[in-house]
Amino acid sequence: MRTVEVTEELQAYLDGLVPPRDPVLARMEEEAHREGIPIVDAHEGALLSLLVKIAGAKRILELGTATGYSGIWLLRGTGDGALTSFEVDRKRAERARANFSEAGLGKQALVLEEDAVGGLQKLQSRFDACFIDLLNSFPSEDVTRHVAELCFERLDAGGLLMADNALRQGEVIRPKNQQTRNVASYNEWVAKHPRLDSVVIPIRDGLSVARVRD
Ligand SMILES: C[S@@+](CC[C@H](N)C(=O)[O-])C[C@H]1O[C@@H](n2cnc3c(N)ncnc32)[C@H](O)[C@@H]1O
Repeated sequence: MRTVEVTEELQAYLDGLVPPRDPVLARMEEEAHREGIPIVDAHEGALLSLLVKIAGAKRILELGTATGYSGIWLLRGTGDGALTSFEVDRKRAERARANFSEAGLGKQALVLEEDAVGGLQKLQSRFDACFIDLLNSFPSEDVTRHVAELCFERLDAGGLLMADNALRQGEVIRPKNQQTRNVASYNEWVAKHPRLDSVVIPIRDGLSVARVRD
């Protein structure tokens, strides 16, 4: 059976099933909508949080903080865990720090204001889960795969490797630009990786979820 087509009416039905967000997340959703900040939605946020919780992940790595929306969902899934997140845009990084503090997660979130590719190479820490939310920003498929390898190398067995926009609004079938070629290359890398079990979940723009084999 094919994945069901999500019509406006079905989306409204799903929206009605998502639990109401607290004032911090609700404000961030409103700001993102008004200012065009590309954040995950509440459905994907809830899924990220659940996946982290199910995996028992405590140490989270994120590439692409924006203002901290997905980071809050990820951190809440850990309970008392910690998030290290890269954001190259100074204003967004500052807003993310303020949002984490307002959500009561200020001490658990470290926002690194630098390019994730260079930053990852210097990072020595180990992680239980990694969420990549900037695949489309890389200049080539080679850089994309290099970043994927760097993230994979920082995960232990049982760790989760997740990436957003795995479907690129369907363009991933016939990539016409670099952003989509990056995503297609990442999807292929994950699917063929001998040490990853993976699936693409067609939620929002597609979430790639993989687990490092024991
Ligand atoms: C899709 S947004 C992240 C959304 C966020 N994960 C959320 O859902 O709340 C991607 C972010 O990555 C940042 N970014 C793009 N290229 C980057 C790089 N090379 N290093 C660090 N941050 C980068 C952008 O400034 C942008 O804020």
